[in-house]
Amino acid sequence: MEMSSHTVISLGLGDRGYDILVGGGLLADAAAIVGPHLARPQTAVITDETVANLHLATLRGAFREAGIACTEIIVPPGEGSKSFAQLERVLDQLLDARIERGDCIIALGGGVVGDLAGFAASILRRGTGVVQVPTTLLAQVDSAVGGKTGINARQGKNLIGTFHQPRLVVVDVNVLETLPKREFLAGYAEVVKYGLIADAAFFAWLEANGPAAAAGDADARQHAIVESCRAKARVVEADERETGQRALLNLGHTFAHAFEAEAGYDGSLLHGEAVAVGLVMAFQLSARLGLCPGADAARVQRHLSAMGLPTTLRSVKTGWDMDRIAGRMTQDKKSRQGVVQFVLVRGIGKAFLSSDVTQADVMAVLRQDLAA
Ligand code: NAD
Ligand code: GLY
Repeated sequence: MEMSSHTVISLGLGDRGYDILVGGGLLADAAAIVGPHLARPQTAVITDETVANLHLATLRGAFREAGIACTEIIVPPGEGSKSFAQLERVLDQLLDARIERGDCIIALGGGVVGDLAGFAASILRRGTGVVQVPTTLLAQVDSAVGGKTGINARQGKNLIGTFHQPRLVVVDVNVLETLPKREFLAGYAEVVKYGLIADAAFFAWLEANGPAAAAGDADARQHAIVESCRAKARVVEADERETGQRALLNLGHTFAHAFEAEAGYDGSLLHGEAVAVGLVMAFQLSARLGLCPGADAARVQRHLSAMGLPTTLRSVKTGWDMDRIAGRMTQDKKSRQGVVQFVLVRGIGKAFLSSDVTQADVMAVLRQDLAA
């Protein structure tokens, strides 16, 4: 069978390096793509109920035809599955299925499934292989690439986890056709982030082509995903364990994490929506500090808003507690010895790390949003 055409991005990390395949229809080719990575014709796929109903049959059919035995492990959809309880269930079923250290399991789903399955793979029999098959835009451009895995703790999100690089990432652009528009846009905020960090030309391309991508144009989606994966791969190659420059990927995220926590993870504010507001505020903060032209901050806000993403806190809901948000930001898990590292910008495509931001600067930006 002829394999669907696709782009290959290689992430170079020595013997932990891997390819990221991006194309339309790759799920149906899963046996031919994943097969060479299996030590024997046996695997297990971890997915959530929603994705199972929409896309598991394609994967199942491909494996059955190729004679690959596949155990199916299905978790409930949503952030709640990044828990000790679901981790235990998944590990239990992987052991029952006699998955061995030399085997390779498959994560089919959004960032929740990818993080949970990746973590399970990293500790099962001291580490087994995982192939990431991301099905949300956010997972395709961000969470499936780079090897961060984990679950949430009572004390906060993603506090328990590992770095465990996948053996392969298979991005089927067509699965986005079933993704709700709101989830697509949340992932799109992360796409914009790559342009804002280091690629002004990509941001300009997104200004022109983002609406087509959101409307379903497959070529525009493919290009946006390929450029995003390339950008992330380059950062991860340079700083796998986030001792330095990988932290640039957190542009807008110090704000975003505080907003999400404050909103209570109740679905009223998706991660990517919080990132959209956070990106605008990172630019506004940089402009306020005299580092970045105010016109660039306005341009970023214009594009995200034109795409239908929130760009202000006041447009999301009322009653935000500014002091508590600023307090949360100074306790961000990325802080080092109590100092919060901020990602600031000198303009579009010119992000850098700074430890010089004061709580008063942050409060001024929040006040400007909430008082407008
Ligand atoms: P998600 O996995 O919860 O998926 C969002 C929703 O979309 C779910 O209800 C899911 O069932 C549904 N869905 C998935 N694919 C679909 C499809 N093709 N069609 C229809 N519905 C579909 O959320 P997410 O936004 O993909 O990921 C968020 C998670 O990713 C968070 O837990 C976050 O911490 C994590 N994350 C991890 C990294 C990393 O580097 N590891 C980076 C960013 C985010
Ligand atoms: N999502 C940020 C990172 O992978 O480092």
